[in-house]
This record gives sequence, structure tokens and C-alpha cells, in this order.
Amino acid sequence: MSQMLPGVLRRSRLRSASALLSLVMAVSACGQQDNAETLVSPLPDRFADVVERGQYLARAGDCVACHTQVGEPEFSGGKAIPTPFGRIYSSNLTSDKVSGLGQWSADDFWQALHHGKSKDGRSLYPAFPYPSYSHMTRDDSDALFAYLQTVPAVDRTPPAHELEFPYNTQLALNVWRLLFFRPEVFEADAQRSESWNRGAYLVQGPGHCAACHTPRGRLGNSQTRYELAGAHIDGLEWDALPLTRGNLPQGDRHALVELLKRGANEHDVLSGPMAEVVLHSLQYLSREDLAAMVDYLFSLPAGESPPATQLSVSADLAHQLYESGKQLYADDCADCHGSDGQGEPYRIPALAGNRGVTAASPNNAIRSLLDGGFGASTEERPRPHGMPPFAHQLDDWQAAAVLTYIRQSWGNEATAVAPETLRQH
Ligand code: HEC
Ligand code: HEC
Ligand code: HEC
Repeated sequence: MSQMLPGVLRRSRLRSASALLSLVMAVSACGQQDNAETLVSPLPDRFADVVERGQYLARAGDCVACHTQVGEPEFSGGKAIPTPFGRIYSSNLTSDKVSGLGQWSADDFWQALHHGKSKDGRSLYPAFPYPSYSHMTRDDSDALFAYLQTVPAVDRTPPAHELEFPYNTQLALNVWRLLFFRPEVFEADAQRSESWNRGAYLVQGPGHCAACHTPRGRLGNSQTRYELAGAHIDGLEWDALPLTRGNLPQGDRHALVELLKRGANEHDVLSGPMAEVVLHSLQYLSREDLAAMVDYLFSLPAGESPPATQLSVSADLAHQLYESGKQLYADDCADCHGSDGQGEPYRIPALAGNRGVTAASPNNAIRSLLDGGFGASTEERPRPHGMPPFAHQLDDWQAAAVLTYIRQSWGNEATAVAPETLRQH
């Protein structure tokens, strides 16, 4: 997917447009979902009041990330969310009476979070990850609403969505909902521990991890058979790595909790969109809740992996790339990442044994190399180290060479990277 040329993207968009159109013609009415009963929240009541609980949930749900534009007041909306179908602008969640949620009731809010319907009955686009939030309990929805009502009013109406026909019609959206959306009810599993259940709730509900980590079909639907098995995020051009069994370092629970809390641990530094998830959301969760999420993740079955395509490289070319990559690495990278790719604990990621570097697709390593970046700035690590961008320093061949070198050194055994792959980035 990541290697798709614009023309291919365009064709696939047209194909899915006609698929959707024929569905629009086939289905004329759309069903109303019934009002599901919700159970007690698996989050223990350790908050002084409902507003504090709501604030914690807003952080667990990372609402601020999509509902705030850079430099604008928190929750005032209007941020463009890129999708393969066009741009969707987030709503104003402040307490403003006209452009925000000031005139909403807790019932209206539940209707949005659980059923994906706005106050006026309009169906909402799943760029708002309500298919995940739908798992949240009514009590938690009410707490979240109580908190948002305390957010100072900002009068700001978001721009109209920029979507192509037929995606801009309510009919198409309702057909989509009919096919791919059911309001969810989180049901605790009595066979599992309290911690596991809390983790499952946080991951499936507020954490909406599936929004990035589960691959999507042509119509933007979650492919549930690949639940959390890793996905390319269209629009952001990063791969969310697989969270299923065998892909996370099993057993090292503490290290993974640290990674989610601080955005870094002994070996790893989270990059790109995941660094932002830590920045706005996970760093504020208690270690207890993060450990619960890790319990749940460690219990996920290995499952099937989504297919990944990669340009193949002849053995000869791979050898040439590796040899020049070795020199480039010594000149440009070893100062920071170490001559053995060992990195520096909590500061610079080890490249040896790095799951992002050795992933089937070199996509994330390419993103980091070309664009550079920072880990998450957290309370415990306010000034993360940076990776300089190399897009202007290395040509396609050199970039492929250094990537081939890091994918095949120090015990790493991933495929060589074809220079053509870089041309598409
Ligand atoms: C990945 C981005 C994203 C995240 C995260 C997100 N939202 Fe949204 N939200 C959107 C977008 C985009 C819309 C506009 C959808 C539309 O207009 O169809 C929206 C719409 C809404 C609406 C409907 C408002 C209206 O006027 O109908 C509510 C309510 C809402 N979000 C609440 C939340 C809450 C609460 C959270 C956190 C728990 C949250 N959102 C997290 C992207 C996001
Ligand atoms: C906005 C998209 C997005 C969301 C939402 C998201 N992730 Fe990620 N995640 C990513 C990306 C992209 C990466 C790869 C980052 C990298 O290479 O450093 C990643 C990497 C990770 C990793 C590291 C995996 C490894 O093998 O090193 C973990 C663990 C993780 N995510 C957990 C979660 C959990 C738990 C949630 C839900 C609370 C979540 N993510 C939500 C995009 C996302
Ligand atoms: C000035 C220090 C520095 C230099 C020089 C540097 N890096 Fe990095 N690199 C970092 C830091 C810090 C990070 C973590 C921040 C991030 O991922 O955004 C990182 C992240 C990465 C990642 C992502 C790893 C992951 O876990 O997803 C890759 C791949 C990478 N570097 C490769 C290279 C290569 C190849 C070179 C040489 C061409 C290089 N780096 C040079 C500091 C450096």
C-alpha cells in the first residue's frame, strides 16, 4: 500500500467509488440501531469527581489530538483529518452554545459517541473513531461530557468537509454504517482478571488503538480478521506496527509499560504518529492502567498478518547496497546510534533488533530517515533527542543503501531495500 503510485491510488479510489455507488443503489433504506444496554465501567472509581474522571477519559481517548489545530485553543476543532476519500474537519467540542457542544445534553453526546450520530441526527464520519468509542459505557460517556462542558467556550465553526462524490452524501455514509458499524457494548470476560478486562476496555474503547493498528478495507472499514495485526495509515504514510503475539517483546511487561508512558525505554523510542499518541494521551495514564493494557495486548492471539508487498532486489545489488551502506552508516549515523546499532537507553533507539527497522515493509525506517523526527516530549523526558532529516543529504540510492545496511546488520535479517522504493516516498 505504501508503495502505491498516485495513479494507482486514483484508480483504486475510482473502483471503491463505483463499488459504493452500486451499494447506494442497492440499499435504499437504512436501519436504526437499538439503544444497547451498557454495563459498569471496568475503570475503577478512583477519581475525586465526575469531571476529573471525564478529563482522564478524554486523555485516554486522545480527543485533543484531532480536535485541536496547532496554535488554537484546545478542543476548538477545525483540524483537517486526511482520509483516502478527502479531508474531514473535526468538530468544536468546547462549551460554545452555537459552534460547540454548549446546547447539547448528555443524551445527545451519547448518541454521538455510541451511535455516531450528531445532535441533529446527521450520521458522522468514522474519521471520528466512534466505532471504537462505541465500546465505552454510558457512565463514562456522561463523565466525558461533564468534563467537556467545563472547557471554555470558543466560537469557531469548522470548515465544510472536502469529500468527493459519493462520499459527501449521507446516503453513502448510511450504507457504510449499515455494512460496517454496529454500536458496541463492552462485555467483561469473567474468565479473565480485572486488570485484563480494564486493559481490553482501554484498548478497544477510549484508546481506539484499532483505528491505526487494524488494517482498513477499500471503504475505510476495519478488517476485523486482522485485529491489531498492523496497518499502513493512509494519509499519514506511517505503518502502525503489529501488536499481536510474537510481534511485541513478550514477557517484558515493564519495558512495554515504560515505552507507552515515556515514549522510550532501554531499547526503543516511539516515532511519528505513535510519539504523538504518547504526547497527548498515554503519558497521562497511570502505570497501572498501562500495565492493564499490556496484559491485554500480550494475550492477543498471533493471528494472520496482512499481506505486505515489497520490491525484490537481486543478490548482487543487495551486496553493493550493503557495502556502501556500511560506510554511510559509519559517517552519518554511528555517532548517535552506535557502531553496533545499540543506541542509548531512553535517548536514541537501538537499531539492532528494532521491530520498526526489521518490519516486512521498510516504510517507517524510510519515514524516519527522510523526515527525521522527535520522540514524545513527556513529563519524565521533556526534551527528547531528535533524529535529523536526511532527505536532502542522501539520494535514493544512498538512502536505500544505508537502510539495507541497518536492516541486515547486528543480527537483523530483513530484506534489502530497492532504490526504486525510495523514489515513491
Ligand atoms: C482521529 C481523530 C479524532 C479523534 C481521536 C476524536 N475525534 Fe471527535 N471527531 C473527529 C472528526 C473528524 C469529527 C467530525 C465528524 C463529522 O463531522 O462527520 C468528529 C466529531 C465529533 C463529535 C460530533 C460533533 C458534532 O457536532 O456532531 C463529537 C461529540 C466528538 N467528535 C467527540 C470526540 C471525543 C469525546 C473524543 C475523544 C474521546 C474524540 N471526539 C476524538 C475526529 C476525531
Ligand atoms: C494515530 C495512529 C495510532 C494510534 C491511534 C495508535 N498507534 Fe500505536 N503505533 C502507531 C505507529 C505509526 C507506530 C509505529 C511507530 C514507530 O515505528 O516508532 C505505532 C507503534 C506502537 C507500538 C510499538 C510496537 C513495537 O513493536 O515497537 C506500540 C506498543 C503501540 N503502538 C501501541 C499502541 C496502543 C496500545 C494504542 C492504543 C492506546 C496505539 N498504539 C494507538 C500509530 C498509532
Ligand atoms: C543526532 C543523532 C542522530 C543521528 C545522526 C541519526 N539518528 Fe536516527 N534517530 C535518532 C533519534 C533520537 C531517534 C528517535 C526519534 C524518532 O524516531 O523520531 C532516531 C530514530 C531513527 C530511526 C527510527 C527507529 C525506530 O525505532 O522507529 C531510524 C530507522 C534511524 N533513526 C536511522 C538512522 C540512520 C540510518 C541514520 C544515519 C543516516 C541516523 N538515524 C542518524 C538520532 C539520530
